[in-house]
Order: sequence, then C-alpha cells, then structure tokens
Amino acid sequence: MSMRFANRFDGQVALLTGSAATNKHELMGFGGATVWRFLEEGGKGVVITDVQDEIGEKSALQLREAGHDAIYLHLDVTEEEEWKTVVEATMKHFGRLDILVNIAGILDPKSILEIEPAVWKKTMEISTVGIFLGTRAVASSMEKSGGGSIINLASMAAKQGSGSYGSAYSFSRGGMHNFSMSSALQLSHLGIRVNTIMPGWVHTPFTDYLYSDPEQSKYRTDRVPLRRWGKPDDIAGGILFLASEDASYMTGAELLMDGGVSAGSVRPANPKASQ
Ligand SMILES: NC(=O)c1ccc[n+]([C@@H]2O[C@H](COP(=O)([O-])OP(=O)(O)OC[C@H]3O[C@@H](n4cnc5c(N)ncnc54)[C@H](O)[C@@H]3O)[C@@H](O)[C@H]2O)c1
Repeated sequence: MSMRFANRFDGQVALLTGSAATNKHELMGFGGATVWRFLEEGGKGVVITDVQDEIGEKSALQLREAGHDAIYLHLDVTEEEEWKTVVEATMKHFGRLDILVNIAGILDPKSILEIEPAVWKKTMEISTVGIFLGTRAVASSMEKSGGGSIINLASMAAKQGSGSYGSAYSFSRGGMHNFSMSSALQLSHLGIRVNTIMPGWVHTPFTDYLYSDPEQSKYRTDRVPLRRWGKPDDIAGGILFLASEDASYMTGAELLMDGGVSAGSVRPANPKASQ
C-alpha cells in the first residue's frame, strides 16, 4: 500500500470515464492506477465507467474483493442520458461526488487522406462532446458535495499538429484544454476546479500496440529526455495532485507530464557526432 499521502482523500468519491482497465493482474490504464491509489489514500469509493463492460465489471469486483467500495457502470461519454443515469446512480450509492476524471478516448493512426470521416468525427466527439456532457452532468452533484475537481486527460499531442495520426486526435485534444479553461471560469462559483493533464507516451492498453513493437517503442524512448516510457502511475500522481487540496489554488491550468518531450530535441548520446 502506498503511504505517500495516507488519508488525503478521506470520505471522497471519484467517478472516472474510460477506466475499465483497472485489473491489477493486467496492463492498467490511467484510470486503474488512479483508482487504486485514490482508495489506498482514504477515498470512500469509486465509480469506474467505460464501454467495455466485461472488463469493467471484473475490475470493480477485484476492487471490492480488496475491501473497497467500487461500482462499475456502463457509460458511453457521448450519450447525455447515460451520463444522467450514472451520476444519479453515483449519488444514490455514495451520496456524494467529489472528483471526475475524463479519460475516455480513441485514436485511429490513419492519415488525414486515409482515415474514415466517421472515425474522425467519433474521435472528436468522444474528446470534446464527452467532456462537455460530463461537466454538465456532474456540476450540481459536486456543488451539493461542497465543491469538486474535474480533471481532463488531453495529451502532449494537444500542443502540436500530427504528422502521422488522422489529425482528429491532436485537434480534439487541443480543444480539451480550451474547454477546461471555460469550465474553470464558469464553475468556480460552485467550488469546482477544472484542470487538464497532458501525458506523453505512457504504456497502457491505449498504446500497447506501439510499446510492443520494438522499433516503434525505441523510436519513442529515444525522443524522451528522461529516456523511458511513462508508467500509468506517473500520470496517476498528476491526476491525484490536481484532485487534492494541494492543488486548491489551481484551476484552468494544464499539467504537462511527458518526460520532457515537449521541451525540444533530446541531447544525442554522442553530442560530438551531431556537431
Ligand atoms: N497512454 C498514452 O500514452 C496516452 C497519452 C496521452 C493521452 N492519452 C489519453 O488517455 C486516454 C487513454 O487512457 P489510457 O491510456 O488509460 O488507455 P485505456 O485504453 O485504458 O483507456 C481508454 C478507454 O476509453 C474507453 N472508451 C473508448 N470510447 C469510449 C466512449 N465512447 N465512452 C467511454 N469510454 C470509451 C476505452 O474502452 C478504454 O477503456 C485517451 O483519452 C488518450 O487520448 C493516453
């Protein structure tokens, strides 16, 4: 058990989208790493949601078997009615909601010329409409709980164009922080803070196809100043920081967690060779 911040989240409840991959015996996503630490640091309970129901149910069962209060609910973040049902069920089960982490996302690596327009639109919709619907759905429950924290997972891709991906991914991720800033301005009077995290390359189910390919994996490692891929726990540290009282004076901010990639080109292993 992590004792880094024992009881930091005493009595609090977190809802996470795109968080089915929470099983400790398998490759975890951002949601999984966040949920375990949140509960070990005093969290009262979690609602994990996703469109992958079988994996999500198994994850929630494992959390309950470990003695935590956890439920899994189906939530396609682009469906307004499903958001309503999930937030109602959360309030019924736990009586409060303090934290929303928007993780759901998809990425089709085809280029602008090759990607199907329907997939392009879906990518945009999950990132942008998804966090809009989620923010609206949780606001009044968070207010009733005495305030809250919303964390939107964008990407370091938000700051750059994309040379290879279909462009919907980086385009949609760029829009997420803009929406976080509007949300921060419009929800501050309810005691709700809204911030964005921009992870770099992190080994999760989302990127496993790249990580498992030695050439793709090395290409990325070589471009990271810290010389390694991120771990889900690295990003969970940022999510939980923004969710916690330590970030009580942060709203409308973005937190870049990319091992230094966005700082520029890395120093070559043999600098003389590149002079
Ligand atoms: N892993 C990385 O390197 C990385 C880097 C930057 C940003 N991100 C972002 O983080 C998120 C991925 O999280 P992860 O790395 O933990 O991977 P993950 O694959 O475990 O999580 C993504 C989840 O989103 C779910 N999802 C897809 N469409 C959905 C929908 N319509 N409604 C609800 N859920 C849906 C998937 O089922 C999946 O479980 C994505 O939004 C991605 O853009 C990932």
